[in-house]
Amino acid sequence: MLNVHNLRDYSTDKNRCVDDVAYGGGGGMVFSPQPLVTAIRAIRKPGGHVVLLSPSGVKLTHKKAEELSRFNQLVLICGRYEGVDQRVIDSEVDEEISIGDFVLTGGEIPAMILIETVSRFIPGVVGNQDSAKNDSFVNGLLEYPHYTRPAVFEGAKVPDVLLSGDHKEIVNWRREEALKKTMRNRPELLTRHCEDARHCERSEAISSQRLLRRPFGSPRNDVVATLPRNDDNRHSERSEESKDV
Ligand SMILES: C[S@@+](CC[C@H](N)C(=O)[O-])C[C@H]1O[C@@H](n2cnc3c(N)ncnc32)[C@H](O)[C@@H]1O
Repeated sequence: MLNVHNLRDYSTDKNRCVDDVAYGGGGGMVFSPQPLVTAIRAIRKPGGHVVLLSPSGVKLTHKKAEELSRFNQLVLICGRYEGVDQRVIDSEVDEEISIGDFVLTGGEIPAMILIETVSRFIPGVVGNQDSAKNDSFVNGLLEYPHYTRPAVFEGAKVPDVLLSGDHKEIVNWRREEALKKTMRNRPELLTRHCEDARHCERSEAISSQRLLRRPFGSPRNDVVATLPRNDDNRHSERSEESKDV
């Protein structure tokens, strides 16, 4: 169930005001502590989890969304203006979550994005749970390409393997394509995927290591990229992980 609360309903100010100027100057308004603290304490249930949507939070990922889906209640605070008085964050907020490295005007769209991705982990929300198993990020890689009828469109053919009926070959082809796409668009995911032994089956480890060793040419634009060696990446990987904790 989704409930939307108007912060002004919790303000004790005679004009139902919810913001004030920032101490220290600098322009921009800040959410006052009283309405937010009163609202959170009234809304939060035992076992509930309070999230402030904020560009300075930890990044929303597939893994984070799965973790959030396990709470029996999520209280999402949508910021505005310059943000929220720090004392609210210190006393009431369990974590701050960002939807990406950019700044929006308000937390409403980030909250909707969070709700959408967390809901997908609730049984019954995704029609075909099987199709979601291969979605991007589920296994640490981006998803392989999809094709539907017709078999030839404007001269472009569906890859033969998908018409072959050989399910083992189809699985292998899809895995290889997922690795290539990840290499092309998100090489840091591939590095992490290979480092994570739990996800690295033998054949995948070989393919991944092969991609990691040689420069990879994109057939579409001929851009050639070489992945950083695993140890070059280690510093940024670690700092990202520690932010997730
Ligand atoms: C203009 S922003 C405030 C930006 C803040 N002064 C800063 O630099 O971090 C107003 C509100 O929009 C929401 N918001 C903006 N960008 C966001 C992002 N990338 N992820 C999550 N929430 C965001 C937050 O709730 C934030 O309090």
